[in-house]
Amino acid sequence: MPVTRMAVFISGRGSNFMAIHREAEKGAIRGEIALVVSDDPQAPGLAYAREKGIEAAVFAKGKGEARADYFERVSSFLDEKKIDLIVLAGFMKVLSPNIVKKYRHRILNIHPALLPSFPGTHAQKQAIDYGVKWTGCTVHFVDEGVDTGPIILQQAVPVLEGDTEESLSERILEQEHRIFPEAVRLFCEGRLEVQGRRVRIKP
Ligand code: GRF
Repeated sequence: MPVTRMAVFISGRGSNFMAIHREAEKGAIRGEIALVVSDDPQAPGLAYAREKGIEAAVFAKGKGEARADYFERVSSFLDEKKIDLIVLAGFMKVLSPNIVKKYRHRILNIHPALLPSFPGTHAQKQAIDYGVKWTGCTVHFVDEGVDTGPIILQQAVPVLEGDTEESLSERILEQEHRIFPEAVRLFCEGRLEVQGRRVRIKP
């Protein structure tokens, strides 16, 4: 089976990108991070990519540029680089329907809540404000909605008395760093089978 060529999309610090990269470097993932794409030239994760010798491309969205056009540009670049899998690791833009269609069941995202609860931004604060006792994180395939695609892996995390958005985010992040590389590993081994909304993990 060929090695999966991944493009990791980031907008910020890129700790999930780093966690995946560490596992790939260890040889635990049959995949290679061929490219890091950021929509923000200031994203701290870019420095790590460059340090590790990974091609890092900045795609800033032009003022007034349509989302569809922006993602056409990104998509052509991914074609050039022969990318098999897109990994959204804290990427803050909603993908265009075209790129989602083109990479159907080949785009992974991590969300810091147990979907379908608390989609969108500030998921950890949403969980605290709602008063749930458990939240967590979810890795899912990306579809046309926001945080709505078929679920691959989830990990529950308790909300503790006195938790702040920061303290809860930190504990969830530890679990993100475990389940995201794991989901990427399963994908690269060809072990994820999508059946409607359900994802079967093949033995
Ligand atoms: C993570 O909490 C992730 O769940 C969310 O954005 C954050 C990204 O963090 N989608 P990092 O850039 O991977 O450190």
